[in-house]
Amino acid sequence: MLIRVSRRELLLGAAAATPLLAQLKPTPLQTIGPFYPIDRPLDQDADLTVIKGKPGRAKGQILYVMGRVFDVKGNPVRGARIEIWQANAAGRYRHPGDTNPAPLDPNFEGYAVLTSDAEGRYQFKTIKPAPYPAGPDFTRTPHIHFDVSGRHTRIITQMYFPGEPQNEKDRIFMETQNRDILIAKMLPPNKDVEPDSKLALWDIVLNFG
Ligand SMILES: [Fe+2]
Repeated sequence: MLIRVSRRELLLGAAAATPLLAQLKPTPLQTIGPFYPIDRPLDQDADLTVIKGKPGRAKGQILYVMGRVFDVKGNPVRGARIEIWQANAAGRYRHPGDTNPAPLDPNFEGYAVLTSDAEGRYQFKTIKPAPYPAGPDFTRTPHIHFDVSGRHTRIITQMYFPGEPQNEKDRIFMETQNRDILIAKMLPPNKDVEPDSKLALWDIVLNFG
């Protein structure tokens, strides 16, 4: 199901896609980090909150993350391959290298592969990731990892959340130029989704599409 957000909501979310600008700013790059999945789950669909064949549901704040992929001229990028991976609601990755003692969630996939549609749109359902310890005196603020391949440009980056107290203490985030571009716009749920869910709008701009 593709959730339709109103034109007004889209404009609110489209920091990158102001039509008056001749040139959009490319989405800044971010480290791939240590937890890119080694064993990709069989279930790679756009709903990370349920695993096929299991009755349960992932713990945490339900989020619908959606947006569009553009080139810097504002043309939608269709058929972009979008891989995402993230920590669960306790701040733990499904990765053997994650030494965080926080529990795994047996119902959380943590990974998906998506393809943008003819208008460059993508969408997935997930839960909000928690912050997690990343070394002495270093906590990663909540984020979702993205690996986006268009026809001519591939980027690895991370999406962040507005108003997080840890944002300003996260070195990876704070050392990024134009980091505001990496912050999603949050909206309350519309009639298509669970009343306690949230919408996160985030556009991605690839240099050459
Ligand atoms: Fe991470």
